[in-house]
Amino acid sequence: MAVITPIFTEEEIQKRIKSLGAEISAEYAGLESPVVIGVMKGAFCFLADLVRNIKTPDPLQIEFVRLSSYGSATESSGHVQTPYLELPNISRRHILVIEDIIDSGRTAKFFMEYLQDQFNPKTLKIAAFLDKPSRRIVEVEPDYVGFTIEDLFVVGYGLDYAEKYRELPFLGELQLSATTGS
Ligand code: IMP
Ligand code: MG
Repeated sequence: MAVITPIFTEEEIQKRIKSLGAEISAEYAGLESPVVIGVMKGAFCFLADLVRNIKTPDPLQIEFVRLSSYGSATESSGHVQTPYLELPNISRRHILVIEDIIDSGRTAKFFMEYLQDQFNPKTLKIAAFLDKPSRRIVEVEPDYVGFTIEDLFVVGYGLDYAEKYRELPFLGELQLSATTGS
């Protein structure tokens, strides 16, 4: 049996995203507006709410890629797969990557190096909804973080366990009983 214990309510999440949006808006205020790249699937809720709280003089450009390192388990597989990595030419732009969570850091590190090599961006930053620094294996420091959490397995607000629970409007800790695993 799966038990989901709420950690952050919908209201707490929305409040935090408003202030993150203001912080990001201020930092890009004097610059050409950035290309925002959402990493699917996990970042879809965070991206949708965050971009609606970013105000820049010029309109944003929004792109998506799909990367995965987890499979369906709660432990990272250790290598990053790239099911969808199509991007238009965004050379020399300001790039802001939107991630659901930075865990081992492998996905973010892979993608940041890829973007740096391909597009030589003017600036390259990451906004992560969640950061689990205690799990880091490779060095990655997100520029903007919604919430820093302990070493818990969380679901909701875009994050899944075996493709389930992404639609929950809140974030919760998932506990699975050893017998069923569902
Ligand atoms: P990393 O490459 O180890 O940093 O893993 C990043 C990816 O692992 C995220 O984009 C998530 O899809 C997944 N992930 C890591 N921790 C969790 C969690 O607590 N719940 C759900 N997915 C997670
Ligand atoms: Mg996942």
